[in-house]
Amino acid sequence: MSVVEVDENEQGLSARTQGGQPVGPESPTTGVTRQSEIATWTQDVSTEGKLVAAGRTGRGTGAHRTGSLSQTALLLGHTGERLPTGAGGRVTAPCVPCTTAPERTPFMKVVVIGGTGLIGSKVVSKLNAHGHEAVAASPNTGVNTLTGEGLAEVLQGAQVVVDVSNSPSWEDDAVMNFFRTCTGNLMKANADAGVTHHVALSIVGTDRLPENGYFRAKLAQEELIKASGIPYSIVHATQFFEFVNGIADAGTEGDTVRIAPVKFQPIYSDDVATAVARTAAGEPLNGVVEIAGPDVFRFDDLVRDVLTSQNDSRKVVADPHARYYGSELQDDSLVPGPGAQLAATRFADWFARQR
Ligand SMILES: NC(=O)c1ccc[n+]([C@@H]2O[C@H](COP(=O)([O-])OP(=O)(O)OC[C@H]3O[C@@H](n4cnc5c(N)ncnc54)[C@H](OP(=O)(O)O)[C@@H]3O)[C@@H](O)[C@H]2O)c1
Repeated sequence: MSVVEVDENEQGLSARTQGGQPVGPESPTTGVTRQSEIATWTQDVSTEGKLVAAGRTGRGTGAHRTGSLSQTALLLGHTGERLPTGAGGRVTAPCVPCTTAPERTPFMKVVVIGGTGLIGSKVVSKLNAHGHEAVAASPNTGVNTLTGEGLAEVLQGAQVVVDVSNSPSWEDDAVMNFFRTCTGNLMKANADAGVTHHVALSIVGTDRLPENGYFRAKLAQEELIKASGIPYSIVHATQFFEFVNGIADAGTEGDTVRIAPVKFQPIYSDDVATAVARTAAGEPLNGVVEIAGPDVFRFDDLVRDVLTSQNDSRKVVADPHARYYGSELQDDSLVPGPGAQLAATRFADWFARQR
């Protein structure tokens, strides 16, 4: 299997836009605010969990780095040029160092709402490993943002709140009620407790797919955060590697899985947690940062490869009208803009470790 590598600067992170210019706090091309404070974060893993420079061109250019489980079909550098392939198919792309800013304060109390979940438990571990006091808050620890139970108590003395909670039900009304009510309760409790940075994890493309009830609810969550007056950072991630089987199940009718043949750029949950933890340790962005995995796949190809590798007999059909949780997809619906930060962990490497 060929592997693409992108050089990193000494802090393990690089940032640049299409065309190679470093990205400032506000990207005029995307309206997306980039995370500038992350370079001083000491990474607790070697290759996993590092964000690297965007090794692809932006939306609409028609050129991007693509991958499949079996091979990387096209290897492109930051500006879309085909890169020379080194020994073993490894490719090195040039990078521009990102801006460096110190962490906010050395040690903070960070309450992680949803801190017992897939992302939340990793965020808690990473923040604690980095010297902060991270507290997991969820119904299992006596904190319920839907009812407000335990919220005021857990927020006492907290400077930062990270919200990586998720609704138990994804039914349209239920998920909207969850994110609206929880976020409303949370932002009020934040204000009462004097919290100075609210970080939330959301999804790339929440404003692009209004027929997707889950995306609508995440957009409502984001709007409540922005309107709250509390300094905030919103991390937009693409779909987690772990979510691909769930997507296949959601697209299944009988023995057939219908998936739109569009770009798909999933990311490893551990890399998401690193980005969220770094963001929580930094100054508020009062904006959105986009993160994604290193490879762009065709959605149906990846789902087909995964199911085949798992000896799953379902047939994956490329259907341009297949709905993704209620929405038809355009080619770029699920992928980030050119200012996105790309994580290091490749799907194929992660998938090989699952077997
Ligand atoms: N799946 C993806 O591909 C994807 C992509 C981008 C962004 N995201 C976002 O990532 C976030 C985290 O997802 P995840 O997969 O890590 O979630 P998860 O594993 O399902 O965990 C959900 C967490 O939410 C907590 N929770 C549920 N109800 C709660 C309530 N009433 N009050 C407080 N906490 C509550 C749960 O607590 P208990 O353990 O106590 O039940 C659990 O800790 C979500 O907001 C999601 O929108 C997901």
